[in-house]
Amino acid sequence: MSILPAILRSAPASLRLGVFLVVFAPLSLTGIQEMGIAEEFLPVARLPVHPDLPDPLIAFDGSRVATPDDWTARRRPELLRLFQHYMYGFLPPAPANLRAKVELSDANYFQGRATKKQVTISFGPDAAPKIHLLLVIPNRRSGPAPVFVGMNFCGNHALLNDPQIPLPDQWIYSSCQGTQGERATEASRGTQIDTWAIEATIDRGYAVATFYSGDVDPDRNDFSDGVHPHFQSGPRTVDSWGTIAAWSWGIHRAVDYLVADSDLDRKRIAVVGHSRLGKTALLAAAFDERIALAIPHQAGCGGTAPSRGKVGESVKQINDRFPHWFDDVFKQFNDQPEKIPFDQHCLVALVAPRPVLFTNAVEDTWANPDGQFAVLVAADPVYRLLGTDGVKAKMPPPVGELQDGRLGYFVRAGKHSMIPEDWQVFLKFADKYFGQN
Ligand code: GCU
Repeated sequence: MSILPAILRSAPASLRLGVFLVVFAPLSLTGIQEMGIAEEFLPVARLPVHPDLPDPLIAFDGSRVATPDDWTARRRPELLRLFQHYMYGFLPPAPANLRAKVELSDANYFQGRATKKQVTISFGPDAAPKIHLLLVIPNRRSGPAPVFVGMNFCGNHALLNDPQIPLPDQWIYSSCQGTQGERATEASRGTQIDTWAIEATIDRGYAVATFYSGDVDPDRNDFSDGVHPHFQSGPRTVDSWGTIAAWSWGIHRAVDYLVADSDLDRKRIAVVGHSRLGKTALLAAAFDERIALAIPHQAGCGGTAPSRGKVGESVKQINDRFPHWFDDVFKQFNDQPEKIPFDQHCLVALVAPRPVLFTNAVEDTWANPDGQFAVLVAADPVYRLLGTDGVKAKMPPPVGELQDGRLGYFVRAGKHSMIPEDWQVFLKFADKYFGQN
């Protein structure tokens, strides 16, 4: 009985009721203790060591998950809580008061081939940050368009040569071209056209919805800016949300808008993101079943690469350099990642049976491309349990060749970057599962 308050304390107030209903309502207290759920948030020191990737179909109490219903009703909710407590921190519930304002709509974009909308999405208290969504929709289509949604690193204005797109007015990475004193300038317009390849995507029949990550949370070790202070109930705790959780939650807010825009197909929303924003894309898909397909590109540690093992970036390296990305519990695994009660294949499994594509580059060893393939293979049993295919083969495909199972994989020659060649692969994969073209 004593365990209940501990579990409930570690969830934000707003989530406590949800946790209580989902987890505890159907069980008596004795039942909980017998099942071992009571120990769900065991202190890290008491967690068992799993040197290899843990079996995703063994629940935290050691019991086997043998049916799709057991996965959906028990193991999936359990993993959602475990990932929040031990790694990313708890995401707040969706705000009740989301509003969207179309500031500008231009039906004659790309010489009439597209419609551009600039949308401001507001939610929470008035002082909370707003999402400035850039949406480009193909005009030639027979019905609502499938859409790629994702965050960008350097502002919407960097993705197109268009003086009407406002510059972000807050902190921005100094590594973004044309930035001065950590602020975007006119010189940064159109500097990332190839990174998002919007025009090519439109010509393939897909809409693109994107916004600057700093709209939701500037990428600094500082929780006093961005959405955190406005949606945090009480003081921060060891499992309060970090920046990656906040970014994912921000994508969910964009999805709130997308599902209501009749130009878009609410059943064909694909999330995409590069690197830290790829980690974000995978987490966003894991936690939001409205997202139909996920493409975390070169996401690496804390996203698509295993936390275990010695290849590429380690848990300690990522926590030391980016202490704000994850919660404080995750830092306790710095020197003992084999104690994490899951690994990233379980995050992929949370997306099941929806398709997921990992894309990589040979020289991007920091993101551990081979380890990422092993993550997909380890998620495969969950897809099979749910009655779909998973990986197409147990070996990665040759460089430059898409392996297009529902757990898809691609590695190209070259470095850490997002380029038009990557978008061609994203589109090919999306075509297969969205039935386009
Ligand atoms: C760093 C970090 C990676 C991250 C990458 C990026 O290299 O260590 O984890 O993916 O930045 O976001 O570009």
